[in-house]
Amino acid sequence: MTSSILVTGGTGTLGRLVTPLLRDTGHPVRVLSRRGHDSRDGVEYVTADLLKGNGIECALDGSDTVLHLAGAAKGDEEATRNLVAAASRVGGVRHLVLISVIGADLMPLGYFRAKRGAERAVEESGLPWTTLRAAQFNDLVLTATRALARLPVVLSPGGVRAQPVDARDVAARLVELTLGEPAGRVPDLAGPKLYGLAELIRGYLQARGHGRPTRRPTLPFPVPGKVGRAYRAEDNLALAGADLGTRTWEDFLAERVEQRERVARH
Ligand SMILES: NC(=O)c1ccc[n+]([C@@H]2O[C@H](COP(=O)([O-])OP(=O)(O)OC[C@H]3O[C@@H](n4cnc5c(N)ncnc54)[C@H](OP(=O)(O)O)[C@@H]3O)[C@@H](O)[C@H]2O)c1
Repeated sequence: MTSSILVTGGTGTLGRLVTPLLRDTGHPVRVLSRRGHDSRDGVEYVTADLLKGNGIECALDGSDTVLHLAGAAKGDEEATRNLVAAASRVGGVRHLVLISVIGADLMPLGYFRAKRGAERAVEESGLPWTTLRAAQFNDLVLTATRALARLPVVLSPGGVRAQPVDARDVAARLVELTLGEPAGRVPDLAGPKLYGLAELIRGYLQARGHGRPTRRPTLPFPVPGKVGRAYRAEDNLALAGADLGTRTWEDFLAERVEQRERVARH
């Protein structure tokens, strides 16, 4: 029997993009999810919970490659430790690929610390591995800017810049890495342009307003404490040596607005 590629998080924003790309390469693909799904479109679904620890060994059975994308606001280190422990018990995994985040080792925030913990779990697993750190996806930035756009002002936290990347660019890179040889830490992947937070919000408001720039005033404010210092030091960015994705925030917004209008017309 041919081994399958197990994709954890295959139902998420990134996973829904990676899974069909992997399947289209002709490899059997199995997705691990906490919820039951019928197998469809040439993809098998298995039920397991990486945090609770149920079902992981069955999910790994017959997989020689694992692409670990599952993630949540909390618990990524523990979930990853459960995954690698199960992989060591089951045996047969010859490549474990992890998605992590740029700044995992530097940003003083729980999510980043948990991602660094997940990286460490993979590095210490004894399994051959590859880790890609990516910047924030445009989808996540859209969720945040939509929320901030409810305010009558455009917030401009001093020194906070971002380099959002398109999840499709991340998905394509992950397919290459998953089908390649274990490579350890590979160059980070960020978006093609750097933006201040206010610029991202203004870009969103402009796309929503059919290209008209917003007249809302900007409200600058300092980000206090060690989080502010880390952002001002640009610890959340990979300014040197990163690979850059192809689609900008403006490209992404234009597509989303067009999609929304297409849906509204029908
Ligand atoms: N979003 C970003 O900007 C960004 C940037 C850099 C790196 N990353 C990393 O990229 C990965 C994917 O992000 P995303 O935005 O696509 O995430 P997402 O849309 O929130 O999806 C999360 C996925 O994780 C799975 N999951 C969560 N908890 C689980 C558990 N206990 N057991 C098994 N599966 C679990 C979910 O599966 P079910 O609900 O089907 O169980 C879902 O498929 C994450 O590891 C994230 O940290 C994200």
